[in-house]
Amino acid sequence: MGCGTGLVGQYLKERGFKNVVGVDASAGMLEKARAKESYSELHELFLGKPETFPKEYHNRFNAVTAAGILAEGHLDNNVFDEMLLALVDNGYAIFATRTMYLEQYSYGQKIKELEEQKRWKLVKEITFDRYDQLEEAIGRFSKVEIKGFVY
Ligand SMILES: C[S@@+](CC[C@H](N)C(=O)[O-])C[C@H]1O[C@@H](n2cnc3c(N)ncnc32)[C@H](O)[C@@H]1O
Repeated sequence: MGCGTGLVGQYLKERGFKNVVGVDASAGMLEKARAKESYSELHELFLGKPETFPKEYHNRFNAVTAAGILAEGHLDNNVFDEMLLALVDNGYAIFATRTMYLEQYSYGQKIKELEEQKRWKLVKEITFDRYDQLEEAIGRFSKVEIKGFVY
């Protein structure tokens, strides 16, 4: 979800995944992703509106990923409902965000609510630093803690 220039697709292709579908709101980004030849399908889709999430993506995917879209100016926490719509039963939602965004954008609250409602359960959580090799900050990019989740 929010496949951007296709880095996740490329990573998955290198690890043998052949049936990878990418969606993104930006036609320009999709064009860059297409050039990587990692995706079986690429579609222009504006995420964040579960009520109009296209029916053809419902109950279809064994796993969904979100990297770099749970972020400032990107997706709000409605996208987790779309993940659940897209997944088959017992599918995996795999996503990462800055630890501070869990509270700042209420991602953490929504993740927990879905756990409490037994709509998903935590499989794995990891914590790591990103941009820790930068000697000095570049814009909003400076050493920051990230959390990655599998539900
Ligand atoms: C940092 S990039 C994601 C990188 C990507 N996951 C990769 O593997 O290369 C963020 C992407 O989110 C997309 N995006 C932001 N808001 C969106 C929305 N509401 N619906 C769909 N895509 C969105 C942007 O167009 C952009 O391509």
